[in-house]
Amino acid sequence: AAPVRYEAESATISQGATESNHTGFSGTGFVNYTNVVGSYVEFTVNAPAAGPAALALGFANGTSGNRPLNISVNGVSAADLDFQPTGAWTTWSAMNTTVTLKAGSNTIRASAGTAEGGPNLDYIDVTASDGQAGTEY
Ligand code: GCU
Repeated sequence: AAPVRYEAESATISQGATESNHTGFSGTGFVNYTNVVGSYVEFTVNAPAAGPAALALGFANGTSGNRPLNISVNGVSAADLDFQPTGAWTTWSAMNTTVTLKAGSNTIRASAGTAEGGPNLDYIDVTASDGQAGTEY
């Protein structure tokens, strides 16, 4: 299937704020995680078929330290990712991982792993399996 973009500012946000003061983001803004462990952004993602999905997370980290996020899918931890410094809050990058989705509606939650909170999160791009023979994603 083709990638589908889900903007962080349109997702469910727990302990974070939609902001637009650092330019270069996609959509109308990004999420600034509150600087606490467990602040999160949760996306509701539709998959045409069960299977692996490529996940790209657009982010910026203007600090000098990593900002880890735990990725959970449908309530189950799927990955721990270290979002490295991008050099400036206006410099955006993408982190890639793979998750397994079920057919239909899924939740993908990205939760801050440290008291610094997450990186600024712009979007996720999801390339889900379409269930076609010979097509992995
Ligand atoms: C700064 C920056 C925010 C960022 C925050 C942080 O305040 O302007 O966009 O989220 O640092 O360290 O998390």
